[in-house]
Amino acid sequence: MTDNPSNLSNKPSLSSNDLSSADDIYADSAGEQLVGQFTFDSAVARVFPDMIRRSVPGYAETVAMSGVIAGEYARDNTQLYDLGCSLGAVTLAMRHGVKAKDCKILAVDNSEAMIEQAGHYLALDDGSVDVELACADITQIRIENASVVALNYVLQFIPKDQRLGLLSNIAQGLNLGGALILSEKICFSADEQKLQDKLHLDFKRANGYSELEIAQKRSAIENVLVPETDEDHVARLQQAGFSRVIRWYQCFNFVSYLAIK
Ligand SMILES: C[S@@+](CC[C@H](N)C(=O)[O-])C[C@H]1O[C@@H](n2cnc3c(N)ncnc32)[C@H](O)[C@@H]1O
Repeated sequence: MTDNPSNLSNKPSLSSNDLSSADDIYADSAGEQLVGQFTFDSAVARVFPDMIRRSVPGYAETVAMSGVIAGEYARDNTQLYDLGCSLGAVTLAMRHGVKAKDCKILAVDNSEAMIEQAGHYLALDDGSVDVELACADITQIRIENASVVALNYVLQFIPKDQRLGLLSNIAQGLNLGGALILSEKICFSADEQKLQDKLHLDFKRANGYSELEIAQKRSAIENVLVPETDEDHVARLQQAGFSRVIRWYQCFNFVSYLAIK
């Protein structure tokens, strides 16, 4: 039996899983002290499946559909990349979605805590596709012979001036006809922003986050997660060398693109 951290399968829910805990990181008031800047450290890695499920509308669907997209685009004797893999939810979805032969998945994250925890999930998984986990900066790695690359809610954490370089490097490493799955939080014109923010807040409240947790997390992640508009993403993907870009999914202020080389 597999144990995918995406929380999206007929497996035990992660809250009942020894590998992860409920997210209560911002439950207590920081008081006089300022809330520290958000980082993907061991405390976050420990609660990550619960945190992302309760914070990102549509997360489970984007993870599951990454497996479906990998099934469609992976080619024999090629590599798949999960860049900014965290605990490897997309890695495992792709691992079980791939139909092509002799593929390898490279799952990369620069958080040691995430990679260590991803290793535990991988050890519990029974997929047959070869997976290699690496602790590295995705802006510094070489992408080669790739048929599918996933960048699931990661580009938003990369400094803006490095985003085109990263996407161009991915495009250059993809074989012709290969696919990039890019999921992001996006921003909008003032009017729509207000509405989307409200819906996102309602989503978090509905998932049990208190007003204090929401406020403290928002302050911690401000300037760390920097969203851009739909137009910015599409234009940059084209500039990076992708010939076709479609927005295949949106849930409130979170979207996912399929960009084909
Ligand atoms: C929101 S999480 C990604 C979620 C994950 N892709 C999933 O679908 O479950 C962002 C991840 O990107 C990683 N990250 C951020 N900047 C990175 C970089 N320059 N190189 C490698 N990983 C990075 C973080 O450590 C974190 O684990």
